[in-house]
Amino acid sequence: MKKRVAILISGGGSNMEALLHSMQMPDHPAEPVLVLSSDSRAAGLNRARALGIRAASVDHVEFGNDRRAFDSRLQEHLLDAGADIICLAGFMRILSANFVTGWRGRILNIHPSLLPKYPGLRTHDRAIAAGDFVHGASVHEVIPDLDAGPVLGQVAIPILAGDTAKTLAARLLPHEHRLYPAVLHRFALGDRTRRDLP
Ligand code: GRF
Repeated sequence: MKKRVAILISGGGSNMEALLHSMQMPDHPAEPVLVLSSDSRAAGLNRARALGIRAASVDHVEFGNDRRAFDSRLQEHLLDAGADIICLAGFMRILSANFVTGWRGRILNIHPSLLPKYPGLRTHDRAIAAGDFVHGASVHEVIPDLDAGPVLGQVAIPILAGDTAKTLAARLLPHEHRLYPAVLHRFALGDRTRRDLP
């Protein structure tokens, strides 16, 4: 039985697209059942629908600061779609500890830094400001602490002289698109060993 994957986004959804394409490979152990966005205007929603994937939004604006109500609406969609695994892909809301604990061992995130370096926001700026020579992205399991769960794979790239957060992010993104599908494929087979990409 294929694992049923829900992808949570907030924006453009390029990682979502990479995951959706990867699951079209014959004999892939997972299938996409839902794309859910925290922003009803997210470009990724139409990208998902164009690929024939059910897509819905739970707009965080409607919920104000009521994180529990927001999370329980997400949960309704996830249960309705029969999701087994959640992939956070550029999902910009912090999920409640309760929600994350309920999905523990079944929820992944991609974060644009070489964790444990630079959890949180503005990772590209921070890597450049620190004078780092390498930067990268991590796919990790999600736990209630932010960007802190076990890392299942990383990819690293050099920081070049003259890089800005924008150029660095743009150069990293295609590598994220290789990393996330590789980790999801293993994860769907129950393999939680860490493997970094060259
Ligand atoms: C990516 O850099 C990802 O690592 C981060 O948010 C960005 C999302 O980009 N979590 P996209 O929406 O997948 O294009």
